[in-house]
This record gives sequence, C-alpha cells and structure tokens, in this order.
Amino acid sequence: MEEKLVKVKELLKKYNQEHLLTYFDDLTPENKELLLNQILDIDFELMANLYKNTKAEIEIDTNTIEPIPYVDKSKLPQADLDLYYSKGLEAIKAGKLAVVTMAGGQGTRLGHNGPKGTFDLGLDSHKSIFEILCDTLILAKNTYGVTIPWYLMTSNENNSATINFFEEHNFFGYPKDAVHFFKQGELPMLSTDGKILLNENGTVKLAANGHGGIFESMFKNNVLEDMKSNGIEWIFIGGVDNVLVKMVDPILMGLCMTKNTLAGGKSLVKAGPKEKVGVFCKRNGKPSVVEYTEITEEMANARDENGELVFGESHILCNLFNIKALEAISKNSLPYHSAFKKASYMDENKQIITSNQPNAYKFEAFIFDAFSTLDDMVILRVKREEEFAPVKNATGTDSPETARELYLNFHKKL
Ligand code: UD1
Repeated sequence: MEEKLVKVKELLKKYNQEHLLTYFDDLTPENKELLLNQILDIDFELMANLYKNTKAEIEIDTNTIEPIPYVDKSKLPQADLDLYYSKGLEAIKAGKLAVVTMAGGQGTRLGHNGPKGTFDLGLDSHKSIFEILCDTLILAKNTYGVTIPWYLMTSNENNSATINFFEEHNFFGYPKDAVHFFKQGELPMLSTDGKILLNENGTVKLAANGHGGIFESMFKNNVLEDMKSNGIEWIFIGGVDNVLVKMVDPILMGLCMTKNTLAGGKSLVKAGPKEKVGVFCKRNGKPSVVEYTEITEEMANARDENGELVFGESHILCNLFNIKALEAISKNSLPYHSAFKKASYMDENKQIITSNQPNAYKFEAFIFDAFSTLDDMVILRVKREEEFAPVKNATGTDSPETARELYLNFHKKL
C-alpha cells in the first residue's frame, strides 16, 4: 500500500487534486485500498480536458447537417420484404444474433425505486419491463428454435439489484446460461472549480459514463470476445425502456446484409417538433443523431414541401451492429457530453454538501456518437404503434399509462 500511496500522491500533486487524500487516515483499510485504486484508475488528462470543455465558449457549428435517406418498411414491395426476412431468419437460426439491453440508467424521471427494468407495467400479469423484453426472446426461441444470448449492461449502482431480480424470477423462464450481465463504466464527478468530488465515505464520487461507454465496456469485459467465439455476427443494442422493442427482427438484419452495411437503425416519424427524441441525420456525410437537447428551434421546426419535418426520423435506440463495426468502434473513445447536475458530496471540511440546484459536472458518452465512425448505416422507418412504447415519465407523455395502452393494443392485434 505504501508504494501505491507514493504514486498516488505524485499524481494528485501533478493534477492539483491533492484534496482527495484529505480523509485518507480516517478511512477503513478497505476504503483506503478502494480510494487508491480509484485514483490510479482515473484518467487525469481526460478529466482536465473535460473540465476545460465545460468552460469553453460554444463553438460555431461548422458541421453540415442534412436529412438522412431511409427505407420505409410500409412501402417496401412484398418481394423485398420476403428476401430480407428470409436472409435475416437464416442468420438468426444459425445462431448469429445476440441482443444487448442497456439497463444502466437511473430512471430518475420515472421515479421508480430500483432498476427501470424491474418496474411493473401494471398489466394484469404484473410483468416487469425485463419480463416483457424477455418474452420476445422466448417467442423467438419457440418460433425459430434458437436460444439468442441476452446481454444486459448494468451500472455499478444497479448491477446487484438487477441480477437479484433475475434470480428471484428464475430468469423469466429463459435459459439462465444464455443471460449475461456486464457493467458500464464510470467517471468522476467534478465541482464547478474542476475538483474531483468525494463521496460521504471519503472515496471518489463516480457516476455512470453514459450508454456510449457500452463499446469500451463490451471490449473490457470480454463481451465481444465471448460473442465472437460463439459465432455471433450481429448484435442488436436497445434501451430498456421501450416495451414494444423488437429485439429480434429478421427484416432489419436481412436489410443490412443485403445492402452490405455494417449497421442499421430503426426510425419512426417524429410526432412533432417538440417530441423528446433524437433524430437521425447525416453530419458531414456520416450517419449521426441530433439529440433533442441539442437541436435548434429552426431545425426542429423545418418542414419540406409535403409538410413533413425535414429532421423527422426519430432515433428510438433500436440499433443493429455487425460485430466488425463494434470491434472498430470499441477501439476509439467517444466524446463526452457534460451535464450540470445536483450532487451531494463531502467538502474539504468534512461537511456533506447537498443542493437543490445543479452544482456538479457529470460526463456522459452517447451511443449514437459512434455512428459517425461508420461509413454508412441503413435506417429502417417502422410504425410507432408496432415498435415504440417508451416508459420514461411517471405520468403524462411516455408514461406507464401510455406505454401500457400501446402494448395492449399491439398485442390485441396479434
Ligand atoms: C433516448 C435517446 C434519444 C431517443 C430516445 C428514444 C439518449 C441520450 N437519447 O433519450 O435519442 O430518441 O431515447 O426513447 O439516449 N442508459 C444506460 N446507461 C446510462 C444512461 C442511459 O444504460 O448511463 C440507458 C437507459 O437505461 C435507457 C436508455 O439508455 O435504456 C435511454 O436513456 P435515457 O437517458 O433515458 O435517454 P432519453 O433521454 O430517454
């Protein structure tokens, strides 16, 4: 430990973060060890740059942003649909598809105490979101005779609660050895003057680094290696909060295969300029998403000659990647977006600081920032009522109530 401590002190001095050892002597032996390891894990150069960027003037955007071409599923000739379906199905039956659910978010807006996937949607069956998602894999198993591996990305905060929930519910009847969990990464939070924050127990205050961290985590946790050695070629990556998510879709897969494209994303028509969804676009000629928090009024409202939104292909976090694309993406790091959030932490005087105003920076990478590393991406426009029933807010739009209705209507038609 002495040797580590010397190394840590040098690092902290160099980066002007010496306050991190303020309580070192008071810590339990486990927390001492934890703190030293946390500090040795921090990329201080990155943190310094991220802090600098929070102060940087917003740069004039020199990107060229254009609408993205898409394939409208409802307008495809039956022969094309049949072709994509059979190609995709063949690959699925040959065991080439794996599914990843990103379930590391906190679900703050929903106000549910626990991992979002454990939320009871309020159906008569009282199925949780996880079980609803699992149903689609069970259906694929029964229909196509293949057990599709399911990977769940959790965060440090919700990993054990998620695993316990699966254990308690006997993996919803899905083969346990086909379900795998891996944790997403974390980054320290920073104060407004660039200091790394400490938790109430004197260790570093870390926060989940956004779902863009998925690529690095898949690589670090040998998920990609594992997939490769099991013959997986295509990976569907979706969010946890859409109870109509189609995780096993032969058509999207067959379309990507036919067009020889290494990635595909589902889109649907944006409900209106203000809907809280990102939109697909081409940025400097590459596939990309303009997030709803970053779109300008002008772009959000622009309409074409038919009265449709120019940037109206909503990104619904339903994306399919070839393993080659994931391998390439995981070698490069994605940019981090900073968010100014409320955080409680311990200051230099051992005072616990809480605030009802944002007081700290959190850094998150977004999965769709990886799209621009791909030359091309197929966008498949699907129908909202068939594939999108998000559970985001406790009440109102995108709430359990609206999602339940969409879910029930869809299943009634089957
Ligand atoms: C997200 C998309 C938006 C899209 C919309 C569709 C982002 C940044 N934006 O918005 O483009 O139109 O969904 O519903 O994602 N998650 C993690 N780890 C994290 C953060 C999030 O696994 O660190 C997971 C969540 O568990 C959830 C998903 O990512 O499954 C979406 O996250 P959220 O932050 O709620 O995104 P939205 O604002 O809803």
